[in-house]
Amino acid sequence: MYKVGVLGAGTWGMAVARVLCNRHHSVMVWSALPQEIEYIQKNRTHPKLPELQIPDDMEFTTDIKEVCNSEYLVVAVPSIFMRSTMETAKDYIKDQILIDLAKGVESDSLYTMSEIIRDVLGSQAKIVALSGPTHAEEVVNDMPSTIVSACGDLEVAEKVQNLFQDTCMRVYTNVDVRGVELCGALKNIIALAAGISHGLNYGDNTRAAIITRGLSEMTRLGTTMGCLEQTFHGLAGIGDLIVTATSVHSRNFKCGTLIGQGYNVDEATKEVGMVVEGLNALPAAMQLSKRYDVEMPITATVDAIVKGKVSPNEAVKALMNRDRKTELTKSVADINFENSIIKSKRGLGMKRVITYGTFDLLHYGHINLLKRAKALGDYLIVAVSTDEFTRLKKDKKCYFSYEQRKGLLESVRFVDLVIPEENWDQKINDIKEYHIDTFVIGDDWKGKFDYLKDEGVEVIYLPRTPEISTTQIKEDLNHPEEK
Ligand code: CTP
Repeated sequence: MYKVGVLGAGTWGMAVARVLCNRHHSVMVWSALPQEIEYIQKNRTHPKLPELQIPDDMEFTTDIKEVCNSEYLVVAVPSIFMRSTMETAKDYIKDQILIDLAKGVESDSLYTMSEIIRDVLGSQAKIVALSGPTHAEEVVNDMPSTIVSACGDLEVAEKVQNLFQDTCMRVYTNVDVRGVELCGALKNIIALAAGISHGLNYGDNTRAAIITRGLSEMTRLGTTMGCLEQTFHGLAGIGDLIVTATSVHSRNFKCGTLIGQGYNVDEATKEVGMVVEGLNALPAAMQLSKRYDVEMPITATVDAIVKGKVSPNEAVKALMNRDRKTELTKSVADINFENSIIKSKRGLGMKRVITYGTFDLLHYGHINLLKRAKALGDYLIVAVSTDEFTRLKKDKKCYFSYEQRKGLLESVRFVDLVIPEENWDQKINDIKEYHIDTFVIGDDWKGKFDYLKDEGVEVIYLPRTPEISTTQIKEDLNHPEEK
């Protein structure tokens, strides 16, 4: 049993406080608003969450010093109050683990919530971001929910996992804190967009499109910022996005719906009656998109609607009429490469072949070699000598540049990938990196690469096509009279 303090008596903070009480921790909740504490203590429920029954042993205070005297400190204030609350609590916080529930990014500094906390408390602070598809309304009814405990220090994340984990709350750990926090902030904006489309009376197709393409722009920004793609496909990412963009409990979705129905932003927020974090996150999201030069069309559209620059109806048309795109974020060559690695790792018999050469003035001798090389397996990599290496290796200059030779080879249907050959010694590395099964080269090199067999690859010397070579072509062109 631990002593847990909770900063903030909003709906989510209270729902989390109840989970911890039910796990027999000793819980004290703080609010800056005496009337809020008074109401909760008197009615043993929350004005915005009437289904919540507050356990008898949950304690309350308006004294921030008292609540900070704990072994874990849950921070559940709205994102806009994060910095000021931390400044106030700073002197009373010792070395306990802080658990952040707020979701947002501070505009201008572009700090996530844990980064603000660290900015105020110092670099030693132990902070966990707790985020996932967990509407307070369902958690207070003990409906099974899942959440992510994220901290760069996995052991700390696991401590918080143990603190919460029970039959109603399953906790997963993650070390990608920034990814988890970005997901938490950005998905609220996408939920606003989903709400707007609902308010315009569009249906499930539109909502699915917003969720899917919304996740795609969240991921694009996150990965550019160094976060893990997997996080965006996890509970804090797609999980929370689904809930926020579809649930009747979502304030962002509700606010968006009202905007879609023609309310202005102030009217909509007033009607929702609680903090709409998606609106608070918009300025930072726009700044991040600019700073990292990442296109975020749905976010930008919500921003334009909220600022009254465009009506929801016009915005939908503009989104639909954007330039045509592919869904794929990788080139087809990269996808084939990855697939072949996966297949070879799974032992599906996919053989990978590599060959080396200069391939200047691509000729039928080269093509014959490439065709036979490819026939030895399923995936052929050609390592082409760079211009510098050719000069060094053969003491001569290629007619075509490396880029031109690479381009020619890439358009040969037997070739799956072209990589640069920069030195004599890279072969062993390449064999490892590209999971090569077979090394192949023309028999003018017979015996020269037998040592590669020690790396577990098959070494094959293919008979050269008679009479043709790049040198020969050059000579013939120089002395046509001799041909
Ligand atoms: N190759 C081949 N038959 C040919 C020419 C080349 O099988 N008539 C093979 C080489 O054995 C090598 C690959 O193609 O495995 C690339 O050879 P490269 O040295 O680039 O081509 P050459 O035409 O031999 O060039 P050079 O005359 O400059 O040596």
